[in-house]
Amino acid sequence: MSKSLSNDNQAWGSRVGLVLAMAGNAVGLGNFLRFPVQAVQNGGGAFMIPYLVCFLLMGVPLLWIEWSMGRFGGRLGHHSTPFILDSIVKRSFWKYFGVFGIFTNISVAAYYCYIESWTMAYVYHSVVGTFSNMSQVDIAQFFVDYTNVGASTTGIPYESIVFFVVCIILNTYILSQGLSGVEKAAKIGMPLLIIFGLFLAIKGWTLGTSGATAEHPNASAIDGLNFLWTPQYDSLTNPKVWLAAAGQIFFTLSLGMGSIQCYASYLKSKDDIALNAVSAGFVNGFVEVVLGGAIVIPIAAGYLGLDWVKENAGFGMAFQTMPYLFNNWGVALAAIAGVMWFGLLFFAGITSSLAMGTPWMGFMRDEFNWSSSKGAWSFGLIVLILGLPTVLFFNYGVFDEYDYWAGTVSLVVFAMAEVLIFVLVFGADRGFNEINEGGDIKVPIIFKYIIKYVTPVLITVVFLGALITPEGNDWAGSFQGLFAGNGWTFDNSSIIKQATLAGLRADIAAATDASVLDHLEKKLLYVTGARILLVSTFLGIAGLVYLAYTRRVKEGRI
Ligand code: ALA
Repeated sequence: MSKSLSNDNQAWGSRVGLVLAMAGNAVGLGNFLRFPVQAVQNGGGAFMIPYLVCFLLMGVPLLWIEWSMGRFGGRLGHHSTPFILDSIVKRSFWKYFGVFGIFTNISVAAYYCYIESWTMAYVYHSVVGTFSNMSQVDIAQFFVDYTNVGASTTGIPYESIVFFVVCIILNTYILSQGLSGVEKAAKIGMPLLIIFGLFLAIKGWTLGTSGATAEHPNASAIDGLNFLWTPQYDSLTNPKVWLAAAGQIFFTLSLGMGSIQCYASYLKSKDDIALNAVSAGFVNGFVEVVLGGAIVIPIAAGYLGLDWVKENAGFGMAFQTMPYLFNNWGVALAAIAGVMWFGLLFFAGITSSLAMGTPWMGFMRDEFNWSSSKGAWSFGLIVLILGLPTVLFFNYGVFDEYDYWAGTVSLVVFAMAEVLIFVLVFGADRGFNEINEGGDIKVPIIFKYIIKYVTPVLITVVFLGALITPEGNDWAGSFQGLFAGNGWTFDNSSIIKQATLAGLRADIAAATDASVLDHLEKKLLYVTGARILLVSTFLGIAGLVYLAYTRRVKEGRI
């Protein structure tokens, strides 16, 4: 039996603390920023059925798999995925697959902390009343100015960098307190998040048509709610909607990242996971669908109309529009709503970004005996270095590049590897028993078969679908063409085309305007740089895993 180097005595303080920390890990910016955009872009009620199916057939099984793998590894003294996987698949290259479980967290944290820092800045601006007399155009422009590194909206030079650094320091400080710091942050952050969310959701539920004006006569929050809650079955045959729903489930539940395994590795051997895992999953689902679904879409539809929401669905809605909409509630309430909205986003963000720091810290403690403090500050430094390009070159696609490779593709790749290991190497029967070990509920037997047959197939289909997405997302037409001998044309959104930057290259070839061409060429340069950074990070961590492994062999700890 292999052992870690550290004499590790970190553990969760209480069950409430554990579930709140796990729920905090899952509940994040994805619930409030990503979910509404995905839902609108994929047809509202049309999105919800694939979303719920993916939650049940992929999300919940993967939660159990990751929790049980983590607890299993923790028993042997492993707190990050390289050696958790190594303890299941002994002495094989699979531990290098486990690098994903550290890499993804670090790389996602690099751009995630940037958004988190916006929420801090926006709380500040809500408090000092920056937005109170601004028009919709002014507030949209404010965001553009804020993310333009040279400009300043507060008079503080390089404001976006300052908030970013402060955000990283705060995360690092909490992480340096060890697991108890993380638990404390979740115990404060999660209840506040829910209170703020409920306040805003009640506004969304009760707004009705009271926000309609001569300029927006069709404005109606009810339309926004109906849009999301009227099921549309036609989407069931649209692979694009399924891919989007699966992607959202991965991101929102923090699956395929490595942080759940790390948190679960601090459980005791016989601690329940069967009930805890679904509880955390359902808290996340409630916050995302019930609260998240009641804020941005209905409130925006309530003042600007559903058509506006459909046309403008995007990441900026939360920052470029919400403060303007709050202004309809009078100066004081607008300020309070602003603090609640951006405060809620901040708590959602920080309880997730803290989780992203723990696999690195666990790994460095296990393998190199690093203290929490050393682990935390080194994590902060790496995130700062990796994150600065997302701040400096935000308008040149660096942020999106990180989000695509680290926050989307890596999750699916790692989850696919994990589920295959769990089913084929660990063994579905043994795995199912491991999930039920110490459980406060008995997982229905049907899930054994779902884990064994449905989840692996579903993830593989999702991955292949994303890999070879056909042009125009026209699956039926593309298969017909393939069978007629016309080959297969990949869409620029497919992983294969993204890898070659085909879309960007085509834009460059088509550009006629000198300034557009200049922007695109710079984009190509910075995106390539971003890739070099991401690959170097992955290889650097793989090098550390190799070093740790050779040390273990030399010291007879394996
Ligand atoms: N699960 C986290 C989120 O939704 C990463 O933001």
